[in-house]
Amino acid sequence: MAGLIPPEFIDQLLSRIDIVEVIDPRVPLKKAGREFQACCPFHTEKTPSFTVSPQKQFYHCFGCGAHGTAIGFLMEYDHLNFVEAIEELANSAGMEIPKGTGGGKPAEDHTPLYQMLQQASDYFQQQLRQHSDAGLATEYLKQRGLSSKIAAEFNIGFAPPGWSNLINVLGRDQNSRQLLHKAGLISTSDSGKEYDRFRERIIFPIKDTRGRVVGFGGRLLGDGKPKYLNSPETAVFHKGGILYGLHEVRHGGSGKQQIMVVEGYMDVAAMAQFGLHNSVATLGTATTQRHLELLYRTTPRVVFCFDGDRAGRAAAWKALQTALPAMKSGREARFLFLPDGEDPDTLIRKEGKEQFLQRIDNALSLSGFLFQHLSADINTTSLDGRARLADLARPLIEQIPAGSLHDLLLQQLSNLTGLETRQQQRRRPQPASQSQSQPQRSPLRDALRLLLEDPQLASLENLPTTWRESQAKGIELFTTLVDLCQSSPSITSAALIERWPDENTKAHLAKLTTQTIFAPLEGLQAEFIGALRLLGDQHKQQQLHSLLQQPLNTLSEEQKAQLKQLYNERRDNK
Ligand code: UTP
Ligand code: MN
Repeated sequence: MAGLIPPEFIDQLLSRIDIVEVIDPRVPLKKAGREFQACCPFHTEKTPSFTVSPQKQFYHCFGCGAHGTAIGFLMEYDHLNFVEAIEELANSAGMEIPKGTGGGKPAEDHTPLYQMLQQASDYFQQQLRQHSDAGLATEYLKQRGLSSKIAAEFNIGFAPPGWSNLINVLGRDQNSRQLLHKAGLISTSDSGKEYDRFRERIIFPIKDTRGRVVGFGGRLLGDGKPKYLNSPETAVFHKGGILYGLHEVRHGGSGKQQIMVVEGYMDVAAMAQFGLHNSVATLGTATTQRHLELLYRTTPRVVFCFDGDRAGRAAAWKALQTALPAMKSGREARFLFLPDGEDPDTLIRKEGKEQFLQRIDNALSLSGFLFQHLSADINTTSLDGRARLADLARPLIEQIPAGSLHDLLLQQLSNLTGLETRQQQRRRPQPASQSQSQPQRSPLRDALRLLLEDPQLASLENLPTTWRESQAKGIELFTTLVDLCQSSPSITSAALIERWPDENTKAHLAKLTTQTIFAPLEGLQAEFIGALRLLGDQHKQQQLHSLLQQPLNTLSEEQKAQLKQLYNERRDNK
């Protein structure tokens, strides 16, 4: 491969770019003397040994030995091949890769292919407006609820009925027919006759991240098979590396805080119709590593939407497994399961944008889905079951690069199973740090943790009230949270944490949230009420204790009455 691009060009390219600028957006670097450092993205570590030298334009990890130039880094980190890495760098430096001179075979220039694909896309769009049968197509789009504005945004077109429309318009000579073949737009029959691949279908042009049309998806106007026909793999169209709608997300105005990954073209279009211009679709394939890299280069949070049925769950689990190695610090994955028989297109039309956003807010976190899935067939109340859960979870967690998510999952696993992970054991030099990793239990902490697990607990009827008098450390925070939950009964745990302006409290709450428990809801309710009761009892005990410390003749009448009451209550409870 290397022979295709002139080496002088590579030298020039490497002198033009700065490796620090290439790595920093992917792995945030900190200046350390003349060099830059970070925790190594290629192995699991806690203290940074990954070093980037701006002088040498080279990176080196003293921990695992990984090293290389900006090109090598992109190949490793973004899973690009050599030529793709060069293309990416050249693109960012505004340089054109020259065609090979002398020596090896010149790098193939795909410009004519891209031009042909664009012309085909223009043709299909024009047919949607002009063809005598275009009414069928526009009627279909209307019936599916797609506005002409959205059709235009996604450059939706129409391949009219007939076997040689495109050939007649764009394939007038041998050369252009050859390009149509290369583009996957025409096929040849057994008898040697060429014919259009897309006929009588709604056409969705598929673009790469640079906005170049690289392929098409075509939907039948009615029932029949195949419902969707896609371009075959071509020199410029690789399904594993392209997401439908990603170019629009990157250049649209809908914010890139999160991107939703849905299944179909229609889902992407429907979401956009409802104002959500931040969804993309895989092209009938499973999510790949390359998809994830493309996504996480655009957004820190990816929400996978799946059917709630068996197949959807299986696909989601596969996506989770693919995502694990991509979950570097700062990246987040969530899993949204839709009601049976619904897809984002049907659901958002039924429920509207706000409800759909609500579902997204409540989507399962990666850790939630991971433990839920693994513990589905395991009895986690038995010791055997918990050991089994640990065995299943550990190898998965170890695939997550070093960082807070990795640690959080280990912590959660040990909370769930009561078993310490080997890594935690290794990290425990003295007993002092054990109490740090396993915070002491107290009724207040339990109640807080349960509330974060399910904020709706605050809205239960018949909650005990005596706890409100408690003076336990941290009670103000808890009281505020309970009040907040009671005044907004649909608030989520995430919102509860995010609402907190102070970072320390936020971190404290986030940490408690990680110590979640998986119990049936009734269990949670009983536990919550129990914890509140204990909290109230604890307060009374303390009161009693302090009253008993004082000489009787120094107590006011009120205090004496209180003492008597506390005493009686205690006796009654026994
Ligand atoms: P779905 O069957 O879920 O279709 O396929 P959909 O998106 O809900 O389509 P509508 O609403 O009936 O129009 C999801 C995706 O799977 C691929 C396409 O990429 C499609 O968008 N697919 C599906 C095919 O490639 N071929 C098919 O025959 C069906
Ligand atoms: Mn659909």
